[in-house]
Amino acid sequence: MKLFDVYPINNINIVKGAGSLVYDDKGQEYLDLYGGHAVISIGHTHPHYVKRLEDQLHQLGFYSNSIEIPIQKELAEKLGHVSGKEDFQLFLVNSGAEANENALKLASFYNGKKKIISFTGGFHGRTSLAVAVTDNPKIVAPVNETDNALILPWSDEAALVQAFADNEVCAVIIEGIQGVGGIQVAPDGFLQKIRSLCDTHNAVFIADSVQCGYGRTGKFYSHDFSGVDADIYTMAKGMGNGFPIGAISISPKIQPAYGMLGTTFGGNHLACAAALAVLEIMEQDNLLQNAAEVGAYLIEELNKFEQVKEVRGRGLMIGIDLPAEFAHAKKDLLFKHHIFTGEAKPNVIRLLPALNLARAHADRFLEAFTKVLNQ
Ligand SMILES: Cc1ncc(COP(=O)(O)O)c(C=O)c1O
Repeated sequence: MKLFDVYPINNINIVKGAGSLVYDDKGQEYLDLYGGHAVISIGHTHPHYVKRLEDQLHQLGFYSNSIEIPIQKELAEKLGHVSGKEDFQLFLVNSGAEANENALKLASFYNGKKKIISFTGGFHGRTSLAVAVTDNPKIVAPVNETDNALILPWSDEAALVQAFADNEVCAVIIEGIQGVGGIQVAPDGFLQKIRSLCDTHNAVFIADSVQCGYGRTGKFYSHDFSGVDADIYTMAKGMGNGFPIGAISISPKIQPAYGMLGTTFGGNHLACAAALAVLEIMEQDNLLQNAAEVGAYLIEELNKFEQVKEVRGRGLMIGIDLPAEFAHAKKDLLFKHHIFTGEAKPNVIRLLPALNLARAHADRFLEAFTKVLNQ
């Protein structure tokens, strides 16, 4: 049997990792500023993470949501505390798309409405409704198309107000910083406007924090910069440092009912152990502060390059917008300097490293980047 060939790949076989460094099968070291797409939050093979997963595996790997699972409650309590949303409620799933799918469904259960607003440049996942509200027609299959999805121009308040006029809006879903869309920061005023319109029209504000959340920007949710709360936060990626887990954090105003949502694997013992290990390291090593500081340093230094069109982002979610003549930069960083970065179309380099990225590793990148731009 062959693999279903849907991923364009680099011909590199990574077999080992430690912190922000990874190694291929020939022993070549790479600096990882990509984190396997914003997934590695506390660094590869962190000893506490490895031990917590190992211990849990020796105890119990899985049992279903039909029994008491105290480690879920432990995770809910810790996440409530670290995210500063102690009165919210947690529903555990397995991925970012599943988190968004459940958030949208829950919003519709809550207010009985159907119309979902999302924005140009947005990416919310590949399941049916998540992909319908994603701004990429190429990945929307005919069966996913729905008149309930309304994709509005990014950061256009007038269009937003207009869309609310018929009072049929169920929810607004927005990334605090668009990731796939090229690191576009949602203006604080726009998020505040969404909050007030949702309040007036009994619509649900969904903060897609799958990529920009979990401490990446220096605040737990990047939407927090706007000073308003969302009704539902969706998360995944950094939550398990590579172990598949996602979640939605739900405002107390939305009440649960038996059978409303459900999943077989979501919230399993191993996934909760992974997520708890991540939060423990985040707290213990002050990773939000490190993300803010090392991120601010990188942004400041990157702004000094005259060849760069624009540097966007917050904390350790950084987009470097380059002119077309530097289209080779990402490949050069990888194959000449052994540094993994991400990209966004047409020509943006995305930095999404572990939140404990060391200043020395930031400098190693800056040195290599200087060479790539000047060669
Ligand atoms: C903002 C955002 N939402 C949702 C998703 C989907 O997450 P997953 O791939 O875990 O389904 C992604 C993935 O890149 C994302 O960046």
